[in-house]
Amino acid sequence: MAPFDMKPNELEPYWMPFTPNRSFKERPRLFSGAKDMHFFTPDGRKVIDGSSGLFCVNAGHGREPITEAIKTAAETLDYAPPFQYGHPQQFKLSSQLALMAPGDLDYALYANSGSEAVDTALKVALAYHRNRGEGSRTRFIGRERGYHGVGFGGISVGGMVANRKMFGNMLAGVDHMATTYNRAEQAFTVGEPEWGGHLADELERLVGLHDASTIAAVIVEPVAGSTGCLPPPKGYLERLREITENHGILLIFDEVITGFGRLGHAFASDRYGVVPDMITFAKGVTNGAVPMSGVMVRKGIYEAHMGGPDHMIELFHGYTYSGHPLAVAAALATQELYKQEDIFGRAKAAEAGFCEAMMSLKSSPNVADIRPIGLLCGIDLDPLPGQPGVRGYDAIERMYHEFDLYCRVTMDTLIVAPPLIATESDIGDIRDRVEKVLKAVS
Ligand SMILES: Cc1ncc(COP(=O)(O)O)c(C=O)c1O
Repeated sequence: MAPFDMKPNELEPYWMPFTPNRSFKERPRLFSGAKDMHFFTPDGRKVIDGSSGLFCVNAGHGREPITEAIKTAAETLDYAPPFQYGHPQQFKLSSQLALMAPGDLDYALYANSGSEAVDTALKVALAYHRNRGEGSRTRFIGRERGYHGVGFGGISVGGMVANRKMFGNMLAGVDHMATTYNRAEQAFTVGEPEWGGHLADELERLVGLHDASTIAAVIVEPVAGSTGCLPPPKGYLERLREITENHGILLIFDEVITGFGRLGHAFASDRYGVVPDMITFAKGVTNGAVPMSGVMVRKGIYEAHMGGPDHMIELFHGYTYSGHPLAVAAALATQELYKQEDIFGRAKAAEAGFCEAMMSLKSSPNVADIRPIGLLCGIDLDPLPGQPGVRGYDAIERMYHEFDLYCRVTMDTLIVAPPLIATESDIGDIRDRVEKVLKAVS
């Protein structure tokens, strides 16, 4: 399109991410404002946020302490170079996160998105083994239906076919464990399913196949989020920890969704009493207000990098915006707000009511499974015969245009994840609107 042909506010030039562009541009869904539990549309409607944006706005939208902190940071120090220089707030945040993180995950690396955090963790795993003289450990093990973002590292260890199939061979030497989900055994389970803990033993089989000396790390989401909320079977994560420890393999928990309260704890690791070697985080760290992510790393991993000459860079990795002043300010204000308002405790207290509200949708049309845990729930709908994703897209359109609801939908699965400030009445409101949507798309 030549520039002189363009109209103001033309929709066409923006190639939207993870969106069917042509359908969207026929009938756009726009948000122009947000406060607490709601988005506002340009035509003045108030739309309840049933998925915390993309699982990130844990304390609700437009929280003043966070926006004020961002404003002040922009006025005080708009940017500071992250390589060879620092700014005081980065160290303050890292100390706070080290206190929050389980075990001796006492070191923080920063990035800007979940995808970058995953790449960072995978690279640290390789460098760690190499520094210890085990450079043959180059393989990663992920899991089917895992989501670790869209970088080449993330799609390699991830297990969502549509995100992988177009993009060639990706990282070499990656293998995958089977998904923990089995509808026949687990349908309509609240929380962690009884069935499936034994699936962790598949890791032992992969170790047998590849030999432990070739495996650097295993990466899993404690609760698989983007694929439709798949809670871990009882005992599964504990067993993964046991096997990885026995074989000197690092265990990475990708807590981009589960970190910062979604499961009623600072990290899912706390809920399960399983301490991994690294935790990737993003989203809720800044309440979604400024892009930021990072990796919490065990002390021994940091220390393994500290052997070279003092003047030498220990890890040749980082981003122009690692620990950006605005992101760090947002993160510090967010963590303070979470503490002051006991956001994680509120999520824990709301879990039972949320799960009950979600399970009460069981008799709605075409519901094939409901999986609530913490304040996260997957609702699988039967696809229209031979047309996977059509019913789900219909739901997206109707939610926005007819029912003033926003909720994440992936193919034919709805993922409900309200901000952790949601009251009983907010949860009831979301539930009732979801019910109407399910009827409408039946
Ligand atoms: C577990 C997990 N890892 C990584 C990512 C990627 O994060 P981003 O979209 O910020 O790159 C996501 C995003 O939803 C996620 O859920």
